[in-house]
Amino acid sequence: MKFFLDTAALDDIREAASIGVLDGVTTNPTLLSREGCPPMEQLAQICEIVQGPVNGEVIGDDHETMIREGRKLREIADNIVVKIPMTKEGLKAVRVFSDEGVPTNVTLVFSSNQALLAAKAGASYISPFLGRLDDIGHVGMDLIREIMVIYENYDIMTEVLAASIRSPLHVVEAAMAGANIATVPFGVIDKMFRHPLTDSGIESFMNDWKKLGHDIG
Ligand code: G3P
Repeated sequence: MKFFLDTAALDDIREAASIGVLDGVTTNPTLLSREGCPPMEQLAQICEIVQGPVNGEVIGDDHETMIREGRKLREIADNIVVKIPMTKEGLKAVRVFSDEGVPTNVTLVFSSNQALLAAKAGASYISPFLGRLDDIGHVGMDLIREIMVIYENYDIMTEVLAASIRSPLHVVEAAMAGANIATVPFGVIDKMFRHPLTDSGIESFMNDWKKLGHDIG
């Protein structure tokens, strides 16, 4: 499973990259607005840190505008993926980009039918939003499981990017369902590292080593 960071915060991106666990980044207008910087410059800075896919989202609501914006986003760097909302106009833009070999991520996917249509239009990635389905009393993970079966039935190459992830358990369940990618907030990656038995194990090993009175070198 690949890990993307779901943020536009440079410090978090730098830290995840320095640990060596970062395969890519997803942003959206909300995440960029939290940083309070000009968004195109922020994306350019992210692309300087991350070599993998960096998702920048279009904001237009007709396909001509989305295509124009997508092209501007692609001028930032070669690793920009054009993130496009799951609408009829959005899928028209996805088709154009797909024919040109430009990678796209269809976002705000909440049903398997939407996932089928996005794949048909040639999306490189789709982003089902797990947490937001959970928020309204659905089991978000069921959607990932359903999409994985459907994509497998037809050998669909579109990658499933589990999004709106809120907890380490979401990551485990998405991995068990076979999602290609999990995009996670930094706080969730941080929690994924932790286990109390790891902490107490390190402490007791260190205490025992100190009793030897020697360094390793
Ligand atoms: O990846 C999509 C994500 O940014 C949305 O997450 O927590 O706002 O539903 P959330």
